[in-house]
Amino acid sequence: MSLNSLHDRGVIARYRSFLPVTDSTPVISLNEGSTPLIHSPKLSEKVGRSCEVYIKYEGLNPTGSFKDRGMTMAISKAVEAGSQAVICASTGNTSAAAAAYAARANVTCIVLLPAGKIAFGKLAQAFMYGAKVVAIEGNFDDALRLVREIGETEPIAVVNSINPHRLQGQKTASFEIIEELGDAPDFHILPVGNAGNISAYWMGYDEFHRLGKASRRPTMIGFQAAGSAPIYHDRVIENPETIATAIRIGNPASWDFAKAAIRESQGAIDIVTDAEILAAQYWLASKEGIFVEPASAASIAGLLKSLDTSCASRAYHADRFPEGSKIVCTVTGHGLKDPDVAKDQCGGVIPAKAERSEILRLIAN
Ligand code: F0G
Repeated sequence: MSLNSLHDRGVIARYRSFLPVTDSTPVISLNEGSTPLIHSPKLSEKVGRSCEVYIKYEGLNPTGSFKDRGMTMAISKAVEAGSQAVICASTGNTSAAAAAYAARANVTCIVLLPAGKIAFGKLAQAFMYGAKVVAIEGNFDDALRLVREIGETEPIAVVNSINPHRLQGQKTASFEIIEELGDAPDFHILPVGNAGNISAYWMGYDEFHRLGKASRRPTMIGFQAAGSAPIYHDRVIENPETIATAIRIGNPASWDFAKAAIRESQGAIDIVTDAEILAAQYWLASKEGIFVEPASAASIAGLLKSLDTSCASRAYHADRFPEGSKIVCTVTGHGLKDPDVAKDQCGGVIPAKAERSEILRLIAN
């Protein structure tokens, strides 16, 4: 292996021939992608019927979320086009990724965030990567509307997922899963916010299926937070609310793409409550050692809900996971992104004197 290929490890290097890049595209990468697909024995057991559940742990990307896959493409293409500045609206992860890749490319990054609704880790990232951070009085949907308007008149590249290069980069997660499992899974479950990711996964699965690299395409099942569920309710939600701030979105940009993915895959869109999200977040960390942010836990909460026979309103239920199914749940962002939610939902510390006897007494209890 040459020295060059040792260092060339991002999604553009790995999947160059499937992406709209040429020899004149400068590759701005932080070695994103190639994230672990972790088998979950406990979830597999819960599903039963010899099904296997895998977790695609996207929190292990360089800025801690799946957004890096799309951002390596968006920033590389922006630099290729001569842009000196990029802008995005974000619930936190897009802004972290945009700021990091822009820093690497020496371009200015402006991020518009809904004031007071960004998890602390994500805000820290935008600051440290040197972005201009603007907190607007409004929600993500307001911020995205402003970004669209500014992008139309100003010489600045919009790097939200309305930029088609973003979804191109994000589709590589499906490629990785197919290569690792040897085929597409039967079911793919993921959280849905602005609906870009479900659309990108479907694009990736469809592309590899058409190329004969997979024998099937999975059934796509998306979960929205109950207080922010426009696709589920089929109407814009004016004031979306959820503890999972990453998916606090009332008017998703990729709404139509997502609906098409669900329709074509005979999938479903369903909702999970904040309580279900928090319970799943804690369950995954404490039972499987995988710490994800609240929005990411929506996929796990969704899988658990689909197994809950006492829940009458399940859009998707386990009677439909046939024997031996392979199920992949994407967990989209790292748990350290949102330390406040983690801290608030867990028990406090056990105070103790610095004495051996006291520690032994506590251990014994
Ligand atoms: N999970 C996390 C951790 C996210 O940050 C997002 C979206 C999603 C899921 C939903 O993905 O929007 O493609 O349906 N975050 C965006 C942001 C909106 O600004 O970081 P989606």
